[in-house]
Amino acid sequence: MRKKVVIANWKMNYDFHETTSFIRNFLKIVFEKKINHNKEIIIAPSFPFLHISNQISQGTTLNIAAQNIHQKEKGPYTGEVSASMLKSIGVQKVILGHSERREFFFEKNNVLLKKIKIALKYGLNIIFCVGESYLERSNDQQFEIIKDQLKKTVFDCSSDEIKSFYIAYEPIWAIGTGKTATFEQAQTMHEFIRSLLLEKYGERISNRIPILYGGSINDFNAKDLFYQKDIDGGLVGTSSMELKKFLKIIQS
Ligand code: G3H
Repeated sequence: MRKKVVIANWKMNYDFHETTSFIRNFLKIVFEKKINHNKEIIIAPSFPFLHISNQISQGTTLNIAAQNIHQKEKGPYTGEVSASMLKSIGVQKVILGHSERREFFFEKNNVLLKKIKIALKYGLNIIFCVGESYLERSNDQQFEIIKDQLKKTVFDCSSDEIKSFYIAYEPIWAIGTGKTATFEQAQTMHEFIRSLLLEKYGERISNRIPILYGGSINDFNAKDLFYQKDIDGGLVGTSSMELKKFLKIIQS
């Protein structure tokens, strides 16, 4: 039985005060109501607040993830953050391949593969995002797009390396639009991704990799999505920024 995973991706939102007070309030409620029992909860705040977030959540079941890393180990890359820097402050997870990185920062599969390799080198777990655009789905190309994205990145990894992954299926047309994939659409794609994992890595491994859905998850639709056989949880943006909604999603 795979564990359910809920990840809050706060993107470029929340300052120091908002970040720390959210996490403190969240931990207080979770502790008092024991609501995250048997689930993995991860919050991905902005770079400047990773250290304090990690300190606040020490000794709790909450995990902290970064939203990105640079593909090089170190060097003259002004403004960038390396895997080893994250490791040195105790961060153990990183989101890679998010469609916003692909679209606004022009991150192609070859760069993402380098990021994967450097993250693995430093022992980081990777939340790797894949997803098709509205046009690609309209042309019924979603399966070949997802297969191609995985083939050129994640599937370059060995059976040992793949164990460090969570895969997040995020149809681009559903991100921040309020237009969620139906649970049938999401389950069909998750089943497809699992079949690709099975083909490449065999049954034991394909059964243990969490495949998360992302794209306008909210406190109303989460239950139907999370109930699906191959949907192991969610990567949540907008609705993770309201404590009440985020808690409801976790309880779903
Ligand atoms: O990383 C999170 C996703 O991009 C989903 O964002 O829940 O605002 O649609 P959203």
